[in-house]
Amino acid sequence: MSMQYASGAVGNVTVNGVKLWDDILETARFGGTPKGGIKRLALTEEDRQVRDWFVRTCEALGCTVSHDSMGNQFARRPGTEDTLPPITMGSHLDTQPTGGKFDGIVGVLGGLAVLRALQETGRETRHPIELINWTNEEGSRFSPAMLSSGVFAGVFTEQEALDTKDREGVRLGDVLEGIGYRGAEVCGAHPVAAYFELHIEQGPILEVEHKTIGIVTGVQGMRWYEVTLTGRDSHAGSTPMRLRADALVTAARMIEAVQTIALEHGPDAVGTVGLIENRPNSRNVVPGEVFFTVDFRDPDDSIVQKMEDAFYAQASELAEKAGLTLEIARVWDTPAVQFDPECVASVTRAADTLGYPARRIVSGAGHDATYMAQVAPTAMIFVPCAGGLSHNEEESAEPDDVTAGANVLLRAVLETDMRL
Ligand code: GLV
Ligand code: MN
Ligand code: MN
Repeated sequence: MSMQYASGAVGNVTVNGVKLWDDILETARFGGTPKGGIKRLALTEEDRQVRDWFVRTCEALGCTVSHDSMGNQFARRPGTEDTLPPITMGSHLDTQPTGGKFDGIVGVLGGLAVLRALQETGRETRHPIELINWTNEEGSRFSPAMLSSGVFAGVFTEQEALDTKDREGVRLGDVLEGIGYRGAEVCGAHPVAAYFELHIEQGPILEVEHKTIGIVTGVQGMRWYEVTLTGRDSHAGSTPMRLRADALVTAARMIEAVQTIALEHGPDAVGTVGLIENRPNSRNVVPGEVFFTVDFRDPDDSIVQKMEDAFYAQASELAEKAGLTLEIARVWDTPAVQFDPECVASVTRAADTLGYPARRIVSGAGHDATYMAQVAPTAMIFVPCAGGLSHNEEESAEPDDVTAGANVLLRAVLETDMRL
């Protein structure tokens, strides 16, 4: 540890955990579900409402708020050396269709709590400090995930992102304009000195080990595929079994293959089919076409490759045997990421100074930090969530843990402001 950046220099400023929790509950109204979760798909009316709230609230704190050509929002608190690139914090305010109150939200509102703490204590920083709300992190409405941080990092072109359509054929660029969040600043032009993202773990490790803070060292590799299997629609009553080209039956075998492949490539490998469309989806028609998605992940990219090879081979064999046409497209590939050692060290020191039990951890979920790591020194902070449950309306976290995470974020940001 370098003494020059020891805790004394960071000082004792802390976030207001009560206000942070209030913000979580207040914004949960936008798209709130009867089961206590949130349905706030990217670029919907509910997303517009929470974005407007973000603008109002950050402006009330004295920040300047802008958005870029992908609708990524930036709330800026000036620095004493204001021409320096900003130290940034961020995450996302969009959710899954049956999302909870914490995934992404803790990172944005935790960053807001940091800005508030700086403002209320009159704390000056050399760099401007900025809070970012990234557009379409979830990849639920518009695939893939982390789309706009991906454009920011140059992984996707802006044009391909704007032309992305949801499952109803609605174009991203059109709804972005429609809700009034397509800005003039070119996505990616915004300078960034460093990026920190606070997030719930979305897995069970911290809770089981009674750790308050996860020091995230990186993100595992992930790939997404879209599979279309084509047979022939025919009558359910009059088509003998031997004359059918039933796409759903073979899709079912492929789905089982995804599970088996992941189990065979353990211990960390995971494989999921989360979206399936059966066509024409009528009870007395033998299904002629099935569309489904596959998600394979592992911390080791070579294992992800092996799972891909196994799936392609098994899917081809199954389709051929059934006389069906198979199309598989790999639509997303994000290799495993290692975060910046200095930023990870700042998170470690912050947790240590504050006396929070902590452990190093690799993220199983994708985050905007995955792409930000390509353009700026980056690290993440995890806090536990109940039962490790996420992408679920029952997703839950303890106020004290969320506050602890925001305090670690605050210290890591202040230390980095002095270091860079
Ligand atoms: C993003 O939320 C992902 O991990 O799929
Ligand atoms: Mn998230
Ligand atoms: Mn998510």
